[in-house]
Amino acid sequence: MPGRPSASRRTVLRGVALTPVAGLGLAACGPGGDGASASATPTGPVELGAESEIPKGGAKLYRDHNVVVGRDGNGTLKAFSTICTHAGCPINKLQGTTLACPCHGSEFDATTGKVVRSPATEPLHELPVRADNGTIVAGPGA
Ligand code: FES
Repeated sequence: MPGRPSASRRTVLRGVALTPVAGLGLAACGPGGDGASASATPTGPVELGAESEIPKGGAKLYRDHNVVVGRDGNGTLKAFSTICTHAGCPINKLQGTTLACPCHGSEFDATTGKVVRSPATEPLHELPVRADNGTIVAGPGA
């Protein structure tokens, strides 16, 4: 690896600056898409959408924010980061209440955050969530 600070500084620094969370060398396995490469969860409260969109026992994936919101049988909302706990890929698929990671096939329950299929072993990171006048707000400080 070229590690000299003065020689090949430009490209190296640029690459590092764009991937603050990765660290495992697998950041490139995400879906990419529009080039935003924002593979991180909210750092503050974000408005996601109407609370009425999530029925009891259902879930909704907010890909732009890397957040999934599920509602358990009691009607309680739960929000989770959809950054896979296996190697950090953004999870981009929700079928029913099952989140499927595109990288190595891990699956998670979107209403509990629990792993339902390996290789991941850790549950999804839970985020604070509340309903504010019918709008779901999730993220730190929500
Ligand atoms: Fe999700 Fe490996 S990063 S299964």
